[in-house]
Amino acid sequence: MIPEDILKANLRINNLDELTLKIYTVINENPGKRIAFWGYTYQTKKLIVDFEKMLSKKFVPTYIIDNFKHHEDCFLEHIPVISFEEAESNQEKFDLIVVMVDSPSIFTILNQIAESKVSDKELWSIHRDTNPLTEIEFHTLCKQAQSSLVKEGISWYTTEENWYCCYQYLKQVASLEGDVAEFGVFQGGSAYFIASVMKHLKIDQKKRLLLYDSFSGLPDKDPLDHFEQGSFCSGRGPEQLKSLLTKFNQIEVFEGNFNDTVPVSRIEKLALAHIDCDQYAPTKFLCEYLYDKMVPGGIMMFQDYPLGITYGERIAVDSFFKDKPENILFGYDRAAFIIKQ
Ligand SMILES: C[S@@+](CC[C@H](N)C(=O)[O-])C[C@H]1O[C@@H](n2cnc3c(N)ncnc32)[C@H](O)[C@@H]1O
Repeated sequence: MIPEDILKANLRINNLDELTLKIYTVINENPGKRIAFWGYTYQTKKLIVDFEKMLSKKFVPTYIIDNFKHHEDCFLEHIPVISFEEAESNQEKFDLIVVMVDSPSIFTILNQIAESKVSDKELWSIHRDTNPLTEIEFHTLCKQAQSSLVKEGISWYTTEENWYCCYQYLKQVASLEGDVAEFGVFQGGSAYFIASVMKHLKIDQKKRLLLYDSFSGLPDKDPLDHFEQGSFCSGRGPEQLKSLLTKFNQIEVFEGNFNDTVPVSRIEKLALAHIDCDQYAPTKFLCEYLYDKMVPGGIMMFQDYPLGITYGERIAVDSFFKDKPENILFGYDRAAFIIKQ
């Protein structure tokens, strides 16, 4: 099925308010209806917590379905996070699937459900009524990048939702002055996607893409951090990254601790900073250093902002922006962002 057909075939809900009302009505008419939510997101957690308070035992969430199982320890303790395959094997335990993924990966998910053992379950999906052409543009760019990365044997830690944020923000800042930078590249997954969107938008001639990483994993650990020093050691160096990105224009790679590389890399103005380093100290350093480099309207995106294993990143962002005029806004999945005033 093409994406639009998949969307038409399911109950499509346009926004969280509409979903809240719908769940409220259905649960009151049919107490005990068992719901599995698809998508480990801040919105899922908030919705579950609110409904548990409001409807008490009438509301029975059974699972959160998400293939990123390593986040289990930072989610709601009483609701298991299970993979799609596990959901298929436990299908008798839920009646309704609510897909909380408001981005084009919705196509992949709805397709997967349609072809699976849970295809006969009641299914709702929530996503905005955006221009499907724009969405399909993302979908195409995303799939092309993923297939090139897989061919090159690259793995990555960012989700399609994170990439969707990058895609939207790149479109938003395309006409502004300033370069694009990523802090926390690992093997180059999100960097490859960002480079391909820049090329697609034809902004790769006027904007550099600056890429920073130690290439030997996290340089240190603060008591606020979960991950150990040395985690995310990419096993690939800057030369391999450059060769992965060879077909793109104006790529510059900086190897080393951000504290050392960022100040000497002559950042002038930035339109987009994608910050994905998971830890307290580097996020704090980057907020302090980059804030004045951001052009008005430029976007700083923090890839891991939830209350969980990347708590350090969140604390750093919250404390830096406490006395700043910018609001911290939620993106998709675990991301948050600010728009520089
Ligand atoms: C979660 S990974 C980045 C994932 C990547 N964006 C992707 O799409 O797969 C975090 C990266 O941040 C890097 N990093 C964290 N703190 C750093 C620091 N202070 N200096 C340099 N690199 C750092 C790590 O080496 C690691 O590669």
